[in-house]
Amino acid sequence: MAGAFIEARDLRKTYLVGKIEVEALRGISFSVQKGEFVSVVGPSGSGKSTLFYLLGGLTRADGGSVVLDGEDLAKLSDAERTRMRKRKIGFVFQKFNLLPTLDARSNIEVAREISGNGRPDPEHFNRITDLLGLTKRLGHRPSELSGGEQQRVALARALINRPTVVLADEPTGNLDSKNSDIVLGMLRLSNQELGQTVLMITHNPEAAKYGDRIIHMRDGQIVRPEDDPQWGSH
Ligand SMILES: Nc1ncnc2c1ncn2[C@@H]1O[C@H](COP(=O)(O)OP(=O)(O)OP(=O)(O)O)[C@@H](O)[C@H]1O
Ligand SMILES: [Mg+2]
Repeated sequence: MAGAFIEARDLRKTYLVGKIEVEALRGISFSVQKGEFVSVVGPSGSGKSTLFYLLGGLTRADGGSVVLDGEDLAKLSDAERTRMRKRKIGFVFQKFNLLPTLDARSNIEVAREISGNGRPDPEHFNRITDLLGLTKRLGHRPSELSGGEQQRVALARALINRPTVVLADEPTGNLDSKNSDIVLGMLRLSNQELGQTVLMITHNPEAAKYGDRIIHMRDGQIVRPEDDPQWGSH
């Protein structure tokens, strides 16, 4: 679609496990407009995280293409792809991927430094950590934080660079409802106030409703909502 901010065309990915081929993605096509908030749902093993890695340029597709903000990821050199990722994408991983030896503040700031943008401006840093309820936890290492706090640090890290797109893989996967509300509220705010495009993978129907629209996956393909057994009755 013209003007799409994220465009996936016939994406395919097969993993080789020993001699067995696992077709994780079997031709996925969709587009996301700039400023949209899209939820991706589907059963375990349906290929959601694989899609997340391909959209973020962290893994190469075996077929098809990803065009992000007008750039075909496969046509960029590794260095160019890395640069685009750091400048434009904020990742929230299914496992938080925090650095264990750094406290929360440094885990958030390190994203800024890696991206080459220097230290974050204090106002933006304070606003994000305040909204995420992290102000009193900034001196704690991940091992000294609850799961919900770690996920909030991971979200702060994703947002600190003001990315144009936020890719989140099960950001509320292991959280209680209070932490889920904080994380989802922050994603909504980043989408509505900062105009960031958000693509969020989730198992949780309540969380999925935060999206403007829901993409349903099953067995490596996109299916109609009515063909998704978990959702058909919703
Ligand atoms: N690195 C890998 N090597 C081999 N097979 C893999 C690898 N990663 C994923 N798979 C397989 O690909 C399929 C899709 O996995 P994926 O992680 O994308 O699913 P998912 O929808 O994110 O599941 P979940 O909801 O449990 O996180 C699964 O069958 C999985 O076993
Ligand atoms: Mg997954």
